[in-house]
Amino acid sequence: MILIDGKETAGQIKLEIAGEVEDIITRGGKRPHLAAILVGNDPASETYVNFKVKDCEQVGFESTLIRFGEDASEAELLDKVAGLNRDTGIDGFIVQLPLPSHISEAKVIESIDPSKDVDGFHPVNAGRLLIGLPCFQSATPAGIIELIKRYNIPTSGKHCVVIGRSNIVGKPIAALMAQKREPGNATVTVCHSRTKNIKEMTLQADIIIAAMGQPGFLTEDMVPQDAVVIDVGTTRVKSDKTKSGFKLMGDVDFDAVATKCSYITPVPGGVGPMTRVSLLLNTLKAAKKEIYP
Ligand code: GUN
Repeated sequence: MILIDGKETAGQIKLEIAGEVEDIITRGGKRPHLAAILVGNDPASETYVNFKVKDCEQVGFESTLIRFGEDASEAELLDKVAGLNRDTGIDGFIVQLPLPSHISEAKVIESIDPSKDVDGFHPVNAGRLLIGLPCFQSATPAGIIELIKRYNIPTSGKHCVVIGRSNIVGKPIAALMAQKREPGNATVTVCHSRTKNIKEMTLQADIIIAAMGQPGFLTEDMVPQDAVVIDVGTTRVKSDKTKSGFKLMGDVDFDAVATKCSYITPVPGGVGPMTRVSLLLNTLKAAKKEIYP
């Protein structure tokens, strides 16, 4: 069994990004600049946004955090997005989700200029991903593909079972795994909460991508010998063993499943750090105008 070390891989990629930033600066260019909008005080969102700011510092990006209270109006938020769209100093920006229920997430996302949408959530980027055009890819699927690439895991002709159909993980990773390129060329089955026979499906898989947010869902009896298991789960549960008072739980019953796998990602330290680094890669691409010249 090979443990896929997302933390180590993300660390290497960060060094590569930092090197590119140095080159840009040496050549008289501008530091890549990521902005993040955070509305309200959701503790998980606070943590994620703080990580994003810290990640930027580590690779030499500029970052700007823009905060709104829980009671901010949709109009205020749309106005800020319009400002960031126009601001030539900002290469890319994200609006941290979820938003308070009185604000339409769809409307806010659609108001972002696709060429600055480094989360890859705008329908233009989601659509371009589906048809294989250059785009900002959603960070988690991009991170998974990068891990598969760097660990040389074969995907061509393999059966990949994705569990979960979210717009930001399940749907895009299914599209990327099926795409006519490497990594890709897989036969993809998408399972979700209404699938009747998930175990029957996973038992026929070469690669299982668990992304439905149910801690410990994928158990040993559901996994064939030598499968590749990618765990996208990041459910925060209370813990008295950690400094933060929380621990992250994956969708895979790791200890039992790992014994059967050829490759497996741990939680934490698997997909999570790669998701974070994907946002940095997208911001670098935005700064270099690689996707939308
Ligand atoms: N909420 C949970 N994950 C994400 C993410 O990747 N980007 C944004 N903007 N919000 C999130």
